[in-house]
Amino acid sequence: MKISIISASHRPNSQSKKVATFLKNNLLNINSELVPFLLDLAESALPLWSPEKKNGKDIWGKPWKSISDNLNKSDGFILVVPEYGGMATPAAKNLFLLCGNGEFAHKPGLIVSVSSGDGGAYPIAELRSSSYKNTHIMWIPENIIIRNVEEFNPGSHGKSIPNWLDNRIDYVLNLFLAYVLNMNPLRDKINRKDFGNGM
Ligand SMILES: Cc1cc2nc3c(=O)[nH]c(=O)nc-3n(C[C@H](O)[C@H](O)[C@H](O)COP(=O)(O)O)c2cc1C
Repeated sequence: MKISIISASHRPNSQSKKVATFLKNNLLNINSELVPFLLDLAESALPLWSPEKKNGKDIWGKPWKSISDNLNKSDGFILVVPEYGGMATPAAKNLFLLCGNGEFAHKPGLIVSVSSGDGGAYPIAELRSSSYKNTHIMWIPENIIIRNVEEFNPGSHGKSIPNWLDNRIDYVLNLFLAYVLNMNPLRDKINRKDFGNGM
């Protein structure tokens, strides 16, 4: 099973990337046969969607095709998204516009939001209401919020990280993988040719 872990920060060496890397290692501890694909949207610096994408030139050639191919081959997605201005990041929203080739279609997704303070709820509410129509991503009903993310460091968390958080993450990742495994047969029923976009 291939799992994409996407860091949706705009900043290089972000807290989101730190969390994404921990989650990747957690997944491999649960199942060492998983194939992870870590996508850092700050590093890949994808431009905003534009009609140029159709031409398939420059970034929309090999670089984008490689990302799209990796996402297409994934069976599930973990999106690590920081709260910016009480919103999901533009990079996260942009990715949903760029992925018009069924990359996410009818595959389970887990939202992990991060905040340097007490925020983190808004990106979850936003993504649950607005990202799925055409991508057909299936957000699972659990999510994770990592508050005071600078202090998040499994093994030696800072004082503001509650001691139940690691168990919660472990529970949610196991549940997410169960969704990934069990949603697979559903894909036989997908007809993207006639019903590619949601209503
Ligand atoms: C442009 C910007 C806007 C932010 N707005 C919020 C916010 O609305 N709520 C919040 O809890 N934190 C906010 N923060 C703080 C982020 O939660 C914090 O910087 C976090 O580490 C960002 O994750 P990153 O390092 O993955 O980019 C904001 C940060 C930036 C850079």
